[in-house]
Amino acid sequence: MSATEGVTPRPTTSPPAITGLKLPPPEPPRFSLSFKIFFAAALLILVAVGGAIAISATRARAIADKKIDGDLKKSGEAWESFQQNRYGELQRALAVVANNPGIISMMTEGDAATAFDTLKREQASSAGAAFLIAIGPDGNAFARTDRPLPYSRDMRQVPTVAAALEGEAAEGIWLSDQKLYHVVAAPVLEGGSRTVGAIAAGFQIDDGVASSLKSLVNADVVFLADAAGRNEPPRPTVAASTMRDRSSAVLAGIVGTPRLVSAVLREGKTIGPIHLGVAGETYLGYFLPVRSSTDDLVGAAATLRSRERELAPFRQIQNSQVLVGLAALVFAFVLSFVLARRITGPVDRLVRATEAVRVGNLETEVPVESNDEIGILARSFRAMLEELKEKAALEKYVASLTMSLGTEETLVATRVQPGIGSPAVGEPRIGTLFAGRYDIQSVLGKGGMGVVYKALDRELDELVAIKTLRSEALSADPSLIDRFKQEIRLARRITHPNVLRTHDLGESAGLKYLSMEFVKGLTLKHLLESGQILPTPVGLRIAKQICAGLAAAHEVGVIHRDIKPQNILIEPTGGLKIMDFGIARLTEDRGMTAAGTVIGTPDYMSPEQARGIPLDFRSDIYSTGVVLYEIFTGSLPFEGDSPIAVVLKHVNDAPPIPQSRNPRIDPKIASIVMRCMEKEATARYQSVNELYEALARVTAEPARRETAA
Ligand SMILES: Nc1ncnc2c1ncn2[C@@H]1O[C@H](COP(=O)(O)OP(=O)(O)O)[C@@H](O)[C@H]1O
Ligand SMILES: [Mg+2]
Repeated sequence: MSATEGVTPRPTTSPPAITGLKLPPPEPPRFSLSFKIFFAAALLILVAVGGAIAISATRARAIADKKIDGDLKKSGEAWESFQQNRYGELQRALAVVANNPGIISMMTEGDAATAFDTLKREQASSAGAAFLIAIGPDGNAFARTDRPLPYSRDMRQVPTVAAALEGEAAEGIWLSDQKLYHVVAAPVLEGGSRTVGAIAAGFQIDDGVASSLKSLVNADVVFLADAAGRNEPPRPTVAASTMRDRSSAVLAGIVGTPRLVSAVLREGKTIGPIHLGVAGETYLGYFLPVRSSTDDLVGAAATLRSRERELAPFRQIQNSQVLVGLAALVFAFVLSFVLARRITGPVDRLVRATEAVRVGNLETEVPVESNDEIGILARSFRAMLEELKEKAALEKYVASLTMSLGTEETLVATRVQPGIGSPAVGEPRIGTLFAGRYDIQSVLGKGGMGVVYKALDRELDELVAIKTLRSEALSADPSLIDRFKQEIRLARRITHPNVLRTHDLGESAGLKYLSMEFVKGLTLKHLLESGQILPTPVGLRIAKQICAGLAAAHEVGVIHRDIKPQNILIEPTGGLKIMDFGIARLTEDRGMTAAGTVIGTPDYMSPEQARGIPLDFRSDIYSTGVVLYEIFTGSLPFEGDSPIAVVLKHVNDAPPIPQSRNPRIDPKIASIVMRCMEKEATARYQSVNELYEALARVTAEPARRETAA
């Protein structure tokens, strides 16, 4: 709150201090504070944890895919070298068989039945061959262990066989009965050099082969055989696999990717990495075409790796992330509940207190003590409440005074002592028209400058106060009048509830006068004259309003120069108006005449004013200090037999400490008063705002005031 605020113009109503009004509890809000806090916290956690999970999941998947891809890419080479090794082994095994004397004689005899029996016997010792075939020198296969006799097939065109008949061991892949075989063929030599035939052995590419390969490539291995006939669309079947339990799912996944099947099995392309759905899992696959020894596409070797399995360790991390998130949510829930409780508890009490004050219960307690914003709010509220109490107290005080003294107008009128000074030329008379527009109604008072009348301004149809300025009282220096006019112009601009509005400086029949706002009320002088010390809240309320009014004037550069209780009007509602801004200037050079007489009272005069040196607004602060001294101690700091004696005291003497006049004065107020009354302007408050703040602090901490009140 700034110093210039806080004072409402002519408050029409003010809350009476009624107590005991019971209020229904305020309606519960739609979304409670704890819910809002929880919601915000939960949202934050969800976004943070969810975001972290989402981002890391995408990243992890990309990393897993890359890793799988890198591994699978190597499967082509691995398959090649695996095959070479296997061929080597199979060749060595077959060489032993081919060199068996029994086989050689079997060939030369050419008896199919004997050959079949011999082959059957050899098959057992030849590294688990699925079948053995005996081929005559003309290329006719005449016995095969997995086919019944009689058996005859022309195998001259089969490259493996042809090479063997040429005397060279050879190898290749065969597709037979939807199975894939590694076939090796070796020549049967008589006498170590003459080729009498050939023996071919088929070793099935079975699950065992797939498993061996799996341990090389670190991926599941599936061998596909193409079951379709020539010129038919490819029809892959699983020839061997490390995933027997899921063979059909794998096959379904492969068949479900048509581009893949035709690319590998028809066009002979290597495909990969490719994503395959297998029983709900995502596999990355790498497909190599498998060609037979006749260079036909007979199937494919596929290496597959499950992305899910690759991500398994990551999933564990993710699960713990989710757990942490859930834990954080629970924590947020508890925390928001506790937090909200801590906030809503005091806020609730504040709300109730506010409501109670709203219905006029000024004695409401504000039971909130904390150092956070709510504590500040509570303290501000308490200070506001104190201000309200001060306001109510002043109003009550003025009302009681008016009651005991009669109406303020009669009161004022009785104080006018007719006959002081000689009636001035053209002095208005009651019941007549003055200056062509003012119906003079009554005398409001009489001061150093002249008489103040209550009048009706015919032009504005408004009550005004007319103050005549007796020429003898005016300065002889016309430049002072000019400066006063200047100041009037400035003062007219002040629109503040604590500043009495000045309307005009006019002249009628040689008599200068000022017209101003008429205020119904008592001067502070009347209040103080009652003889008792004002109650502290009343005094503070008055003091703060003086500060607020002065602040508005100082802001536009107007110094009052004559702050005294006679120039402070208090309305019945407790509103305060400072009047006569700058008027003192008019009598400045007559303030202390050579004869030592002072026009007006010197009781509130600042030392610099008394010494006739240039003034600034801090002179007003001094005078305000004297007024406060009087308000809070009930007496003036300096009194003397003559005005000049008082003036000298203001210049030279330290004021008696306020406690010596009123032992019950709030020490804070006492020190404020003393600071205002420092002889050196620089030692006083440097602005009325500062003074206001100091007074407001007294209000804000009412506990210390109890004894003084
Ligand atoms: N605008 C006004 N409205 C009501 N009463 C006024 C007004 N101006 C002055 N008075 C009364 O007239 C009295 C005399 O005023 P003034 O001539 O300024 O002398 P002083 O300020 O020295 O008392 C005041 O004390 C006050 O009671
Ligand atoms: Mg006056």
